[in-house]
Amino acid sequence: MDGSLNQTVAIVGAGPAGLFAAKELATQGVQVVLLNRDIKPGGLAEYGIFPTKLKMKNGLRAQFRQVLVHPNVEYYGNVTIGDHADISLPELQNMGFGAILVTAGAQGTKWLGLPGEDLTGVYHAKEVVYHYNKLPPFSQRQLVIGKKVAVIGVGNVMLDIAHYLIADRNVDEVIAVGRRGPQEIKFDRKELDYIIGNLDVQAVEFEINRVAHIMTSLGQNPEMAKAFYHEAKQKMTPPIGSGSFSLRFLSSPTRMLDNGRGGVGGLEVEENTLIAVGDDTKARGLGTCHVLDVDTVIFAIGDKVDENLGLPVHASAFDKNPSPLYPVDGDSYEAYSKDDNQPVEGVFVAGWSRNASTGLVGLARKDGVNGSRAVMQFLRSRSFSQNNAIGNLKSAIFALPHPVVTKDALAALENVEQQRAATLGVEEFKFVTNAEMLEAMGLMGVTP
Ligand SMILES: Cc1cc2nc3c(=O)[nH]c(=O)nc-3n(C[C@H](O)[C@H](O)[C@H](O)COP(=O)(O)OP(=O)(O)OC[C@H]3O[C@@H](n4cnc5c(N)ncnc54)[C@H](O)[C@@H]3O)c2cc1C
Ligand SMILES: NC(=O)c1ccc[n+]([C@@H]2O[C@H](COP(=O)([O-])OP(=O)(O)OC[C@H]3O[C@@H](n4cnc5c(N)ncnc54)[C@H](OP(=O)(O)O)[C@@H]3O)[C@@H](O)[C@H]2O)c1
Repeated sequence: MDGSLNQTVAIVGAGPAGLFAAKELATQGVQVVLLNRDIKPGGLAEYGIFPTKLKMKNGLRAQFRQVLVHPNVEYYGNVTIGDHADISLPELQNMGFGAILVTAGAQGTKWLGLPGEDLTGVYHAKEVVYHYNKLPPFSQRQLVIGKKVAVIGVGNVMLDIAHYLIADRNVDEVIAVGRRGPQEIKFDRKELDYIIGNLDVQAVEFEINRVAHIMTSLGQNPEMAKAFYHEAKQKMTPPIGSGSFSLRFLSSPTRMLDNGRGGVGGLEVEENTLIAVGDDTKARGLGTCHVLDVDTVIFAIGDKVDENLGLPVHASAFDKNPSPLYPVDGDSYEAYSKDDNQPVEGVFVAGWSRNASTGLVGLARKDGVNGSRAVMQFLRSRSFSQNNAIGNLKSAIFALPHPVVTKDALAALENVEQQRAATLGVEEFKFVTNAEMLEAMGLMGVTP
């Protein structure tokens, strides 16, 4: 039995969870192969975190580079695992890896199935966030953004999108629409500070007064909710653009109206009340509807995993073994099939693939590390037989009809982008298409 050396693990997805899992496994002597859909590593740390948080992004990039230089880590970017993708999960399973750890994030889109979702000017947060962070192919899609935008959801992603709309798209008005009340906001005060200069504090106070009777019926304090915004406003942070930012509470979207030209002519919302559920609350519709005068609607309500990856899904994430054989801190990292009533042999999940849209990079890192510890327990529980898993994988990926990006190629891309930034006198330069990136690495039209 050899649980630490000569073992091979394939990690699907090189976001924070996958990269930090790779580091943990590699330092234990495991040969790790990272397979990443995007050319660049980093996942949402590269393509989610707001572009102006450059210090944070560069700090994370430096940590990711440290992972990739480890001699036990191989990186193959521009490779997608899944049904109808470059390599299917069963194909990967058959290559002979000791285990597979899926850290592919939450790449599916949570649509609510409302009338009007197909209108021009209705988007999901992912399309907007990937667009402004320059992830191909979203980077090249034209977003039709009007002047008055409703963003559904009151989490940190909503704030990032409001930031982008006001600072970069010059919109007149952003209204964040929460299905619950002022006490149930999910965003952080620190993140609100970025757009506090644009907060219409009077409108928010008016809105809190509108729902105050529902808050007080549950023992909540509307004055404290108002104080939260007043105190934030004290900072006197300058506005980031001319548009205003406000919030609407206790309202669930019911449909987007057609403006007669295939665009948005308003957002209909149903008013909600709040009911107590244990220590938490739940929104319940009251049957009364209103139309908000907006021409663009963006859903920032969290994501779900991509069902095409080939693993069973439960709620928004890949299903986990309810009785884990290799628990870490009491949590299960084992992919699970309810149909077969057993774990998917040798396949583990971590990060947003295990718990969609939950937490910051630090949590994804911790989850990746814990996922790798579950994998190590599994590897140690089995006798190791020598095989050629990595060779099998290389034969398959280098036979793909498109270039595969190695860590050497990545280093070359980074150099070209840094040189371009220096020439242009900007802090950061990112190519917006895969073709440009591949060309910069000398891989365009070349099978490595
Ligand atoms: C808009 C937004 C802003 C955020 N801002 C912050 C912030 O400011 N600070 C902070 O700490 N956290 C922030 N977060 C949270 C943070 O980004 C996440 O916690 C973290 O990135 C999740 O890591 P992950 O590795 O699980 O998934 P991801 O980061 O999503 O990485 C998944 C990786 O898997 C790859 N992949 C996907 N599907 C496949 C496939 N089929 N085959 C192969 N590879 C695949 C992708 O290319 C990607 O590289 C933000 C999140 C969002 C959505
Ligand atoms: N700058 C940062 O640090 C940063 C930036 C972006 C993201 N993140 C992190 O990334 C994670 C994901 O963020 P997120 O904003 O996508 O998710 P989130 O924090 O879970 O917020 C999602 C919002 O959407 C609402 N919602 C969910 N389903 C809905 C539905 N069916 N109808 C109407 N509203 C619905 C939620 O309301 P309920 O509360 O009622 O469910 C909530 O207000 C979070 O951990 C966040 O902190 C961090």
